[in-house]
Amino acid sequence: MAFSQGFLEEIKDRNDIIDIVSQYVALKRASSVMIGLCPFHNEKTPSFTVFPKTRSYYCFGCGAGGDVVSFTMAMGGFSYPEAVEHLANRVGLQMEDTEDKPVNRVRRDRVVAATTEAARFYHRCLNAPMGQAARDYLEKRALSSLTVRRFGIGFAPDSWDMLAKHLTAQGFTVEELEAAFLCRRGKNGGLYDIFRNRIAFPLIDINGDVLGFSARRLNEADDRKYVNTSDTPAFKKSRFVFGMNMAKSFGEDSLIMCEGCMDAVALHQAGFGNAVATLGTAITSEQARLIARHAKTVYLSYDSDGAGKNATLKGIKLLSEVGVGAKILDLGATKDPDEYIKQFGAEAFRRVIKGSTGQMDYKLKEIAEGFNMSLPEEKLRAFDRMCAYAATLSGKAEREICAARIGEHCGVSLSAVLESVERKLLISARRVKKEEAGREMQNSLGFGDKVNRDRVKLPAAVMIEERILGMLLFKPELYPPAAEKLTENSFVTEFSAKVFRLFAEDFASGREPILSKDGVLTPEELSRVTGMLASRQAVNDNSPTALAACIQALEREKLKADYDADISERGAAALEEYIAKLKEKKKSSEDK
Ligand code: UTP
Ligand code: MN
Repeated sequence: MAFSQGFLEEIKDRNDIIDIVSQYVALKRASSVMIGLCPFHNEKTPSFTVFPKTRSYYCFGCGAGGDVVSFTMAMGGFSYPEAVEHLANRVGLQMEDTEDKPVNRVRRDRVVAATTEAARFYHRCLNAPMGQAARDYLEKRALSSLTVRRFGIGFAPDSWDMLAKHLTAQGFTVEELEAAFLCRRGKNGGLYDIFRNRIAFPLIDINGDVLGFSARRLNEADDRKYVNTSDTPAFKKSRFVFGMNMAKSFGEDSLIMCEGCMDAVALHQAGFGNAVATLGTAITSEQARLIARHAKTVYLSYDSDGAGKNATLKGIKLLSEVGVGAKILDLGATKDPDEYIKQFGAEAFRRVIKGSTGQMDYKLKEIAEGFNMSLPEEKLRAFDRMCAYAATLSGKAEREICAARIGEHCGVSLSAVLESVERKLLISARRVKKEEAGREMQNSLGFGDKVNRDRVKLPAAVMIEERILGMLLFKPELYPPAAEKLTENSFVTEFSAKVFRLFAEDFASGREPILSKDGVLTPEELSRVTGMLASRQAVNDNSPTALAACIQALEREKLKADYDADISERGAAALEEYIAKLKEKKKSSEDK
């Protein structure tokens, strides 16, 4: 067995689920629960619900659910024992000894420790005599020593193994240094450093942990301009936003999004403390969700080349999905914010921000540029595309403003534009409805239910089982009086029997179950279980009588299922007999 019940209960008691979730989700009280925007899928209206009473969370939108341990696993990228350990450390609880330690995987905290030490080492190297060229370079790029210190910028020396030696002497293992993306094993088995002769920008997350580096070449002849940490047990590029740790406390509800660290750092130095950066890629949906927790508006300053344009369009779409408005900065012929500030100064950049284009105008202009607007047919096609875009806007006022702009672009009357937009809106609403109906049908039939595969065959049984399990999870004290009538064998489907078995002891003793216990359920299974619990919390009737009625209904389903299984077994036997007889007959006729 893994951790003791008592230890896990202590973890749950001392790590308040609201505190933990609040680190990632802005929660609002709604009667006896707390709700917020789901961190597991994109949404504009909150369906993510935290139940303080059962210390669980469930998203009524995407169906993700669990407890404080599973939440920590999902958000921090931890394994089960790591998450337990993290929560224990958080409240200064002595970790319980178990065999359930991660064996093959290098632990996240070791990776963070090694990376933090590497950042200190690089920073020292910058200030050492060997850092002269790097210091000169930073001066050339006009970064002040204050900026260098604030961002912990360092110098990865021009050596094959200085860092490897330093960290090995500090007790880090080869596996840890490899997993942290700091060193690699060479052909001869020796360790060598990944970052060499580069300026190292530490990648620090919103909690202040150093997770990796974005490292710029000093020698322009080196082949890669930047080397960035790739995914490690601690770092995931697709959910990391550089500078967020500082921007979140800058006190503005907007962010300036750049392509790389150099731009974000230069903007901070020029007084734009809300500058952040992705590492040379377009915004991902995970980054969009992180952004939505800290900002209402994002100023995008990607390149104006083809790749940059695509990144901008993708950014607009993902941000609008999470309710964040996007504005687009036009830097003219200048390459990036860093160069813009150097050429024209901070005040000019502030004016660019003030005059930035809204996403609507950007999008319409982008469409218009794709067509030859002096030809009537082309203009008509552009008009069609623009109306389709307007139909995707969620507010009526927004659509009307957009329609007016479309009218200007295409020389069409406002009423004609509105008519076309409304028609598109109607068509897409019908399509959405049809898709939803299709999905609902599939769900109710159980197609695609990978958690309980018996749902398609036994929908009624599954519904009753989920009701029973939900009641018991919510009010385990209901179980002891019903114990005689309800055992593992009462369940029809395998998954329900498994869930019952997992929590049987809790039910028997009438104590609150620990949902993520032992980490044996997959995230999908745990979500399903939490869903059962959540739907019972939403209704009032969780009485002994209600439970008894469900148990009785389940008995009937069990009888039916057994009977069906029996029939089909007998049917199969009869069929075999019949086939054997046929063969016999055929054989005897051939013999004749
Ligand atoms: P840029 O080439 O625009 O670099 O790449 P930059 O940010 O202006 O850097 P400086 O001013 O020349 O120092 C934008 C971003 O793309 C990623 C980096 O994150 C970079 O900041 N990139 C670029 C890479 O990851 N690898 C590369 O080889 C180049
Ligand atoms: Mn640049």
